[in-house]
Amino acid sequence: MANSEVAKWSNGGDLFLDLSPERGRGLRTRIENAIRDAIRSGRLPRDTVLPATRTLARDLGVSRGTVMQAYAQLTAEGWITGRRGSGTRVAADRTTQTAKRPGLAAGAVRWRFDLRPGRPDASSFPRADWMRAQRRALAAAPGDAFDYGRPEGMLALRLALADYLARARGLRVSADDVIVTTGFTQSLSLIARALHGNGVTSIAMEEPSMPLHRSVVKEAGVNLTMLRVDDAGAAVEQLAALPDVQAAILTPNHQHPTGAALSPTRRATLLDWARTSDGYVVEDDYDGEFRYDGEPLGPVQGLDPSRVIYAGTVSKTLAPGVRLGWLIVPEPIRDMVLRQRLLTDGHNGALEQLAFTELLRSGGYDRHIRKMRLDYRRRRNTLLGALATRLPELGVAGAAAGLNLLIPLGDAEAEERVLRAATAAGLGLGGMIEGRFYVNDPKPGILVGYAASPEHNFSQSVDALVDALTVSVR
Ligand SMILES: Cc1ncc(COP(=O)(O)O)c(C=O)c1O
Repeated sequence: MANSEVAKWSNGGDLFLDLSPERGRGLRTRIENAIRDAIRSGRLPRDTVLPATRTLARDLGVSRGTVMQAYAQLTAEGWITGRRGSGTRVAADRTTQTAKRPGLAAGAVRWRFDLRPGRPDASSFPRADWMRAQRRALAAAPGDAFDYGRPEGMLALRLALADYLARARGLRVSADDVIVTTGFTQSLSLIARALHGNGVTSIAMEEPSMPLHRSVVKEAGVNLTMLRVDDAGAAVEQLAALPDVQAAILTPNHQHPTGAALSPTRRATLLDWARTSDGYVVEDDYDGEFRYDGEPLGPVQGLDPSRVIYAGTVSKTLAPGVRLGWLIVPEPIRDMVLRQRLLTDGHNGALEQLAFTELLRSGGYDRHIRKMRLDYRRRRNTLLGALATRLPELGVAGAAAGLNLLIPLGDAEAEERVLRAATAAGLGLGGMIEGRFYVNDPKPGILVGYAASPEHNFSQSVDALVDALTVSVR
């Protein structure tokens, strides 16, 4: 906490003091020792305003005189100072050890040029729309909206989501099928644990896929089998030869991270397998809203809602920090998923559910997606144009949809060289090997995200990319 932030609490914030008997004989001594220790450990940094003697006495259930004596002693020793009008403060940095303060999370580097894959443009988050939605929703919410809620989420949000998903994504869905979650990662964990609870022991996933998602599934106690991926998406015909597999987790609309769309033939094969083997398809529709070229195939859920568990998220459409997602779950396993949600954390927060419901109802969500689709398409075209004219020898895959494209490379050293050159230039990129997307058969390549970079330095970011690729690949 910066000193200026500490000082804002001019009436003194709440203060935890451990007054256990080991701190000495008598309450006054214990209070003195507790405050001394808190200052020494860095828990109370310089300028922290201590509670007024009357307040602290009330909080601790002691007489005001006891607190006044303790403060007087600490003042005499130079630990704290009191001035009329500005309260009693921690006087000086008497810290004997470096306080543990939350720092930047590991890997949270600020890139000068940000072409990291999978991230939307955070600077375009619809702040004004969100604030308006929040204000309206809060003003209209009944008191019981703030009580403990149901694990499936608020009915109003599930109704709004069902309408949106049927209209905009072609799903066959009613509000009863919707479970609100905190995003795909939680959705996947709930599903994997629910399936495991229903006797599923083996699940298929795509290779390549997100290592985090593989870990989430393994953590639920099921075995993983990897499905090959090619230009027509995951090789779902492999499922017929895998009798133990009872569910398949796929990204059919834009395979992550290769960007392939699951072909109509394979969609039919997949659903045939699910019907005949009593299996489930888990459809991760993480960036389905952003398709730029070609006919949208639409989610496979629309083809057979009884065999598909559909998962959506706002992590690409709004921002990953919002932590909001949804599941459309066939009736036979719904209770098991809800049970897992109750065991995890109960349900999503009321405030964000209310605000998102309002954003959906007001058309603000649609408007934002439409705007971002145009922006991202323009950026993608700029990127594709630069690559085609300046590095025509490089191939590009997965550019028809989503927030990133893939540049396959011939060998692992080339990927490493490009990433090293990029890092030296302050350019954030993704690597297929570096990102541990493969389990058995790694294929090198560079993942380029074109959504995260702020508009004003996008073309410089593309120049930096071309430079990193040029020196390393030629
Ligand atoms: C394949 C895939 N699915 C889903 C997500 C979104 O996950 P979440 O909703 O937990 O942010 C991501 C984000 O990186 C992703 O890469």
